[in-house]
Parts: sequence; structure tokens; C-alpha cells
Amino acid sequence: MADEENSNLANSLKEKLHFHNYRYYVLDDPVISDFEYDRIFRQLVDLEENIPGLKAADSPTQRVGGAPSPEFLEIQHRSPMLSLGNVFNVNEFIAWHNRAATRLQFSNFEMICEPKIDGLAISLTYENGLLVQGATRGDGNKGEDVTSNVRTIRSIPLSLQSPNPPPRLEVRGEIYYPLDAFEKFNNERLAEGQAPFANPRNAAAGSLRQLDPKTTSERHLSIWVYQLGSVDGQAAPDTHWEIMQWLRSLGFRINPLIELVTNLDSVTKYHQRWIENRNNENYQTDGIVVKVNSLEYQRLLGFISREPRWAVAYKFPSEQAITKLVEIGINVGRTGNLNPFAVLEPVQLGGVVIQHATLHNEEDILRKDIRIGDQVIIERAGEVIPQVIGPVAGSRTGAEIPFEMPGLCPSCSSLVSKIEGEAAHRCSNASCPSQKFEKIKHFVSKSAMDIEGLGEKLVKLLLDLDLISEFPDLYFLDREQLLNVERMGEKSVTNLLSAIEKSKQRPLSSLISGLGILHVGSETSELLAKQFKSVDTIAQVSLENFEAIPGIGSIVGAALVEYFQNSENLAIIEKLRSAGVNFTENENLEEYVSSFIGLRFVVTGRIEGYTRSELEQYIKNRGGSVSSSVSSKTNFVVAGEDAGSKLSDAEKLNVSIISFAELQNLDRQGLH
Ligand code: IVH
Repeated sequence: MADEENSNLANSLKEKLHFHNYRYYVLDDPVISDFEYDRIFRQLVDLEENIPGLKAADSPTQRVGGAPSPEFLEIQHRSPMLSLGNVFNVNEFIAWHNRAATRLQFSNFEMICEPKIDGLAISLTYENGLLVQGATRGDGNKGEDVTSNVRTIRSIPLSLQSPNPPPRLEVRGEIYYPLDAFEKFNNERLAEGQAPFANPRNAAAGSLRQLDPKTTSERHLSIWVYQLGSVDGQAAPDTHWEIMQWLRSLGFRINPLIELVTNLDSVTKYHQRWIENRNNENYQTDGIVVKVNSLEYQRLLGFISREPRWAVAYKFPSEQAITKLVEIGINVGRTGNLNPFAVLEPVQLGGVVIQHATLHNEEDILRKDIRIGDQVIIERAGEVIPQVIGPVAGSRTGAEIPFEMPGLCPSCSSLVSKIEGEAAHRCSNASCPSQKFEKIKHFVSKSAMDIEGLGEKLVKLLLDLDLISEFPDLYFLDREQLLNVERMGEKSVTNLLSAIEKSKQRPLSSLISGLGILHVGSETSELLAKQFKSVDTIAQVSLENFEAIPGIGSIVGAALVEYFQNSENLAIIEKLRSAGVNFTENENLEEYVSSFIGLRFVVTGRIEGYTRSELEQYIKNRGGSVSSSVSSKTNFVVAGEDAGSKLSDAEKLNVSIISFAELQNLDRQGLH
């Protein structure tokens, strides 16, 4: 066959498959049999295999084309991915509506009611109609590049259904695990002797973060698109309702149960109907989302901190269940607090099997008169770990045992003391193994130094092998020692060491949070970093000065002063310093400086401490542009370690090659 004929045939097969894919996965209304679909699919595979040039990025055969990735790159969102404020009952909802009405100066604005899908948010970018990027929400500003995985989700179009797609389109939605697929997946895991996933949302999140897209593909995730991120080069409709219809016409999966309403009463009815029907859908919901329809009104209402005033999550009442309290376990936290938790007879709650629940502290247990062996009511509200509400009245047999806080720490047998004025009991031994473990676990966690690949099991193992005893030891781990650890190969040791190395450059707030100072969480850490700019300054601040800072107060202030007076803590700080951990507020990479305006850069090779997307962002923030290949228009090639063929390209074309340090110098000194 002539080339042109082949390419026409491939295109027509591709279009057919796109259409049937859309009927099946988006509309849930197939018009051909699976057998017929597979036949067309095979025909296209054969054709593409014989004539390699035919394989297009949006071909349905390319859904699992991406190679497994060693890690996910960081992606800066064009506009932050926000969260939603919550209301829990009709009065709170009316109060939200009143606030919006007061700002808009009229009250009968249109609203859209939608289910609030319990999955994970995703941003999808299309360029000239082709899917080019899928990014997770991350911290709202920066997410992870999961494009290869997103491509495997059949209900996400690889190309838009439009002869004239916008040059750039970003949509946002929720990826979720359909309940039937989730159940099947968990049953398969059980049959293979693996632990089942606790709930579909965690399983969806885990599936999307698989390094090998093939694994994601096997999980059969799906999507509901619920928002337009941005569109370039074309005007979008000016109401949310019309945008949803438009996105549907482009091939996106829009929930059919969304409704346009004009009054409060209709919202309440919609909410009520969902509560009655929430268990009839093939996905989990934890409320409805109510959005102001007009984009103009949305703009007028704006945001408060990270929540829009023009939308709200109207939650469903939390679900309860009754089960037996088998035992009360104690977990020793990183600051030595003894945290009681309930071990329960497994019970279904909101589609999930629950075996553990929180029990706050001794006072709470005694006040609620919860005894071991009781039938108890447990409740789960949204994402919160389930709680024990109290015993079921009149169900006691007399065999129940009242709870007593142990006098000795269950981990190290040291004396437990109760702190005056606080509810917590605390283990008095600073080198208690449980505390040590929790401290390191906290230090490496995402909210602190974010050392990837250093999970709970590995921390335990390193402690058991005496390779570490406190978190600064991580920076002195030796390659040879690690290679001797069971199941640690060359590659995992290299990855671990480079993740540890990278963590030395984390912002000051991450380090403060990682120190695990009593009462100092990530918000306080950010406040301290902004205010004082270095660990050494914070260590010198007096109680009065801490107290003077709004948001700190005397309890947190005292904990800080006490921390920096303790010689063991000071030794930890010195050890971190000698390892080269960043102790100061970093130069702000996000700050906009226009020193590179009009310049074109190509980045190649590895630059320690930065991901590729951080480097690109650094350049873009300063007005420069970044391309992937060197041409005569390139002004600079920024080269790191193991730079490849781009270097010789640059030499051939006489393009200047500079290091990252030189790039920073150019930025400081100015190029123009
Ligand atoms: S709109 C600025 N609509 O809920 C508003 N979010 O709590 C952005 N979610 O991160 C969100 N269903 O992941 C919106 N129909 C829906 C949603 C929805 C689920 C999630 C979303 C968001 C979170 C906020």
C-alpha cells in the first residue's frame, strides 16, 4: 500500500477507536461489542508495527507507551489548585450563601450543585488538542508530573474532539477508583495473600503514583472533570454550567448528576437526595459542592486564603457503626506522648473496613466511660481517622474492663509522668526507642525534610542495625554499610543517598518542622522561618520576643526556648550543621526578577539539589524561556553533571555553555 493510504487507514482506525473509547468510558454507552473493539485495535497495532512512522502520540495503542520513570518531576501549577471551605449543616450553608449575597449585593444568583468526589485532584493540559501533561495537586502550587500514568486512564481523552482546539487548555478534575473495580482489585490482592487497601481513595492515589504506567493501567481508574483551569487563544463560555457543557463536547467526562439551581431550597433538596442515594453510585462521595454559576460573580467574590468564596463543600453527615472494642493499644509519639488507640473488631464504615480508631487521651476515655470489651459507636467524618464516640448504652455484660494508663512506657519501661495542666501522659526517657523511631519518621516525612524512599520499614531497619540512632546520622550513612543491608541493591542505595543529599537544600521551614520541637508544626515553622531567617537566630530568641509574635504565644514560645537550651538538642543541631544542611531562609526561587527576559535557555544534565522542573521554573521566573533542544536561537546551555549530546550541539552552533553557578551569577549581576 502507498504511504498515504496507510496513513489514511491508520487515521480512520484511530478515529474509530477514539469514538468507541469515548462511548464506552466517558458516556458509558458502547455501540459495538468488546470483541469488535479489540479487532479494530489489533488492526491498528499491526499497521503501526509494520510502519513505525505511523505511531502518533494520541493513538489509542499508546496509552501504555511511557517507560517507567525513576521519579516524578515537580510541576509548577499555572494557577494554584485550591481547596474548598466546608459546611456541615443547613445553617452553615445559609451563612455561606448570605456572605456571598452580601458581597454581590443580591441574593438570587444561580448556583451549580455537584457531587464532591472522594478521589484525588488532577490537572490535565492539552496543547493543540493533544494531552501533554497530567499533574497531581501536590501542595496546591507544585504537583508531580504523572503524565504517563494519566495517559493510561481510558476516560481521559488523549486528544480533544474538536477540529479547532485551543492552543492550550487546562482542565481539572477528580481521579477516583470505581467501586466495582476497587473491590475486584482488593479481592485479587487478598487471594494473593497481600493486604487489601483501606479505601478506594488511598488505592487511587497509590495507583496514580506508580512508577511504571503499566501498573496504573491495570488499576482501571476513572475521572470526573469539574473545572476549567485556563484556556489560551479562545474565549471560554462565561458560566460554569456552559463550561461544563463545552468540556463535555470536547470529550471530557462530566458528571451527569450536576444541576443548575436558582434558590437555596433546591440546594437543600439536592443535598438530601444525595444522602439517600450516595451508596447507589459507583464512586465515593463525601458531600456536594455548590458553586456560583457566573464567572463574573466568581471573580467578584474572589478568595479567602486558599479557599474560593464562590464555592463551598456541603458535607454529608458522618457515618457511624457499632463494633466491639477488643483492646486499647498505646503508641508512643515522637515527643514521648502516650497515645491510646482502639483495636476494634473489623467493621464496615462508609464502604471501608475499620480496625483501629483514635482514643485521644486518658481523660477522654474516662469521661466517655469507654471500657475494654464494650460495644462502641465509631464515627468517621471525611478523611479523619475514625473516632470512638462512646459505649452503646445498656449493652454491658459486666466483663468489661476499665482502662488504666500504664505507669511505665510500653516501649522502654521508663516512668510515665502526667504533665500539669495537659491531658497527655509522657514517657520521660528521651532515648526511648519508640520516640527515636517516631522522631526520625517525622524528620524524613513529606511535611519536613521529605526524604523520598526512606519509609517506615527502612527507618526501623536502619535503627535495628544501629546504622543510625538519631536523624542527623542519616547524613553520615556510608555507601558500603548500606550495600550490606538486606534487599538494598546498588540502585536503591544510590537513590537513597541522593534523596538524603537533596534534603540538605530543603527550605528553613522544613528543617524547623523536622526538628520535632514540641507544639511546633509546619505552620509555626513557616512563621519562624519567615520571621527569623535562620536556625541560629531562632536559637537566640527570648521568650518575650517569641510571645510578641502573633500566632506563637507563651506555650509554643516556652517550648522553643526550652528546646534550644537543651544540650542534647544543641548537639543535634551541630551535627546537622556539620553535615551541610541548609540553616537559612533560601533565596526565593519563585520571586519574579526579569533579568532573563527575551533569552532562550536549554538545560542539560543533573544539577545537584534541583529537579529539572525547578531549574526551568528558575529561568521562567526571571523572564527567560526554556526549550528542549539546542538551535541557533538558543542563547545559553546550562550544563550539569552527565550532560549529553546537547553539549556537542551547543559547541557546533557556537552557543555559550554555562554552569548553574554561572547562571546564578548572571542573574545577580544582570545580563543587560
Ligand atoms: S472544585 C476552587 N468540584 O475537593 C475549587 N472540587 O476540598 C476547586 N473535589 O481539591 C475544587 N469533587 O479535589 C471541586 N465537584 C468538585 C469536586 C471537587 C471533589 C475535590 C477536589 C478539591 C477538593 C477540595
